[in-house]
Amino acid sequence: ALERTFSIVKPDATRRNLTGKIVAKFEDAGLRVVAQKRIHLTKAQAGEFYKVHAERPFYDELCEFMASAPIVAQVLEGEGAIAKNREVMGATNPADAAPGTIRADFAESVGENSVHGSDAPETAAIEIAYFFSGLELVG
Ligand code: CMP
Repeated sequence: ALERTFSIVKPDATRRNLTGKIVAKFEDAGLRVVAQKRIHLTKAQAGEFYKVHAERPFYDELCEFMASAPIVAQVLEGEGAIAKNREVMGATNPADAAPGTIRADFAESVGENSVHGSDAPETAAIEIAYFFSGLELVG
């Protein structure tokens, strides 16, 4: 079914001017950008977005990193968009990511791993609503 997922080009990637190369991989896989904004999160805003990870040992470092430079937040639409986005990103840890995936090609570490993507329809809906209003989703 036609589905929407939420994607972030993370600070390590915007810093290295990789936004276009990353988005091209999503588009080449059949995903369509239906909303997009470049923003510089505060640490508090990053903390709210990642609050499900609040008890993890890497939470503080993750929030610092996500507020360290601009990000590009997007909504991607396509057939099975959530699974397709995750396939194109590759495993969270670039050391485990399949060749040709975004994280294999671009990620620097498990923390600075170039992209975020929603893991399920429920989280996609929450994450999309955190960054975009309905009016900003243009299919
Ligand atoms: P993401 O999909 O954005 O969701 C949570 C993030 O936490 C994850 O990608 C990683 O970038 C980050 N993360 C996961 N494990 C670690 C770790 N061991 N150290 C630092 N960051 C991590």
